[in-house]
Amino acid sequence: MPLGDSAVRARAADPQGGWLETGTGRPRAPGAAGEQLQEQQEAWRDAGLVLSTTSNEACKLFDAALTQYATWTNDESLGGIEGCLSKLKAADPNFTMGHVIANGLELVGTGSSVRLDKELDRAMRTMVALSESQPLTEREKLHVSALDMFARGQLPEACDLWEQILQRHPTDLLALKFSHDTYFYLGYQVQMRDSVARVYPFWTPDVPLSSYVKGYYSFGLVETNFFDRAEEVAREALAVNQTDAWSVHTIAHVNEMKADVKKGLEFMKETETNWKNSDMLACHNYWHWALYFIEKGEYEAALTIYDNHIAPRCLASGSMLDVVDNCSMLYRLHLEGVKLGDRWKDVLALTKKHTKDHILLFNDVHFLMSSLGAKDHTTTQELLTTLQELAKAPCEDHQLSLAPSLGLPLCQAFVEFENGNCDKAVDLLYPIRYQLIQLGGSNAQRDVFSQLLIHAALNSKSQAKRNLARCLLRERDGVRPNSPMTERLIRKAAAIHSMA
Ligand SMILES: [Fe+2]
Repeated sequence: MPLGDSAVRARAADPQGGWLETGTGRPRAPGAAGEQLQEQQEAWRDAGLVLSTTSNEACKLFDAALTQYATWTNDESLGGIEGCLSKLKAADPNFTMGHVIANGLELVGTGSSVRLDKELDRAMRTMVALSESQPLTEREKLHVSALDMFARGQLPEACDLWEQILQRHPTDLLALKFSHDTYFYLGYQVQMRDSVARVYPFWTPDVPLSSYVKGYYSFGLVETNFFDRAEEVAREALAVNQTDAWSVHTIAHVNEMKADVKKGLEFMKETETNWKNSDMLACHNYWHWALYFIEKGEYEAALTIYDNHIAPRCLASGSMLDVVDNCSMLYRLHLEGVKLGDRWKDVLALTKKHTKDHILLFNDVHFLMSSLGAKDHTTTQELLTTLQELAKAPCEDHQLSLAPSLGLPLCQAFVEFENGNCDKAVDLLYPIRYQLIQLGGSNAQRDVFSQLLIHAALNSKSQAKRNLARCLLRERDGVRPNSPMTERLIRKAAAIHSMA
């Protein structure tokens, strides 16, 4: 596996590379423990990324956890990220940056929050208390503050602090990745691109993991519609490391945005063996693959990918990304009129426990899709009422502040559509469509909201709303020409119009 950020400094001392024995699976180099300790500390210090710990092992495990996070792949030979984090804690329980990465991965995964998880709340308090009891570098202190902001729901402020780190430490991979992921949740596409652009020149080819930073940059480029440049940068990354699942993912987005179904399908098939073992991203890449089949109207092929890859991987991981994809895939097929059997019930078994969480509105609306799909009215109602209650209380949580204006109307639009009140769904969704980006996610992910609006408009009783459907389809055709789905819906709209 690739070496972590700190490895670069030791490359000079060990031209074979890989001073992180656990990271490479190579035997531990001979030498006194004291020598190793010094070597590792110096490596981090030389990079301007001092880690305040006296534990050689802790430095090594921090690097291993960071590397797995940055590459979207648990390395089971290391015990995966979780295994590394528990060993890291044991190696130096007072290592503040160890607490930062452990808590950060928990929070940025969006499956948990300090409001819901008392253990995580305690872990955050412990981290802050530790940071106040030790002489830390300014960079480490900023990491603690940024995570504290994130935990309070102040995501934009957390990004500001990570950016402060990156201005002085452009190769701080943890700050770069945490901010990248958080911009994604915020729908701050331009910031997601420019944050990487600012540090990009420092990630020269000799810096381990630099090709993965190309992947992050390419994703920011595709989300801001620089498709050709995005593909170029992603291909540069893949030329260095073809197993880089995130760069594969960028190219999947480029093909999706261009509705280039043929190229998209070929690319996923050709590269599958390279990325399918990237356990944190493979499910999402399969999701992209299945989207091309939905685009083409080949629903059985999409369902085959769903049944063989998306559903089982989601069940195994339970990660929010996989759960959201699972719901989104079924909902898109549902909009196309595909019979889904008991699949919604299986998904609801995963989402039901998150009904009252309300960590991200983007996640909430996907959970709602599953309770609507499974026709579990009690769960649907519970999700809506608990969100309404939380949104009433004044708070500093960025997500909850968006609930009254965006989250709740969006959820209600889904409910109205499922109840056959298509006109009402349009009334709720149309006025907020250009603000939905604030709920985060990618352009491809949020397309399910656009699809819902078009289907609701098409099936409205009002002639004006059916006309709106035709307008929306012309608009869609303009930005994504030659889309088989758009062409299919245009034909449907024409048929409805001629019957009117
Ligand atoms: Fe994606």
